[in-house]
Amino acid sequence: MLCLGIESTAHTFGIGIISDKGKILANEKESFRSKHSGLKPQEAADFHLSNACKVLKRALAKAKLSIKDVDVLAFARGPGLGPCLKVGATAARTLSLLHNKPLVAVNHCVAHIEIGKLLTKAKDPVVVYVSGGNTQIIALEKNRYRIFGETLDIGIGNMLDSFGRTLGLGFPAGPILDKMYFKGKKYIELPYTVKGTDLAFAGLQTAAEKLIGKVKKEDLVYSLLQNAFAMLTEVTERALAYTERNEVLLVGGVASSRALRSTLSKMCKARNAKLFVPKQEFCVDNGAMIAWLGMLEFLHGKSTPVEKSAVKQKLRLDDTEIKW
Ligand code: FE2
Repeated sequence: MLCLGIESTAHTFGIGIISDKGKILANEKESFRSKHSGLKPQEAADFHLSNACKVLKRALAKAKLSIKDVDVLAFARGPGLGPCLKVGATAARTLSLLHNKPLVAVNHCVAHIEIGKLLTKAKDPVVVYVSGGNTQIIALEKNRYRIFGETLDIGIGNMLDSFGRTLGLGFPAGPILDKMYFKGKKYIELPYTVKGTDLAFAGLQTAAEKLIGKVKKEDLVYSLLQNAFAMLTEVTERALAYTERNEVLLVGGVASSRALRSTLSKMCKARNAKLFVPKQEFCVDNGAMIAWLGMLEFLHGKSTPVEKSAVKQKLRLDDTEIKW
């Protein structure tokens, strides 16, 4: 059985095709980029619209399939940016109606976790989900992924991109900042905000922005990332101790950061825990993760009637029941 999944929650329009055994046959995408500004929802949605057919054709060609060979269609219902979500949902509904295939609306955050578990073979991890809009420390408890700790203001990825923009970098700024981190030598004191198991990044960003032009750029980036990632690591360590787990699964776009991986892996080593990180292609937003969650949900009896397939910008992680 094959599921085709469509991702369009933010900057990426992706289409993946996966089998019921978890074999990924295609994972194609186009991502919105901007040299001078951040992510504007309508601009990204227009970008998705103009790339949708191209990405679909590419995915089918890669898998050597026709749309008729696909058994199930999945799309990311949320959370995400309204205009972007609607493009993916409309594409999935159209294909479902045209070809008479069942439709499954899935949770983007859960999809990140499930593809991570599939590809790394992590069994019951504490999940560190870090992306533009999301920063959450998660563990599975009684058939729901529960949020153990999360950001109280902005997502870590948005903080990095927004700081990068002030610094004059394009979007996305994360990868450039990550390279700069390793060139920084001197730590500059910046706010460090952990409240119990929650975190906050806005104060850190503001304080760092005030120092632009006054200190060496590389040192500032080094200190900003140092604090942000140490905060995340502290909360993750607390979650490991509290939930008595010994696996950490790092997912989301910011999981690509070498600086974050190295900070987390030091903590994991010290605790005898194992750190799992999927390949970069599957850390960032992608269609294969939506296809895999669609497949899991479909195999466990779920499908979504077209008239009940409205997108949900603020869909919560624990809205989704985990039946597998
Ligand atoms: Fe994501």
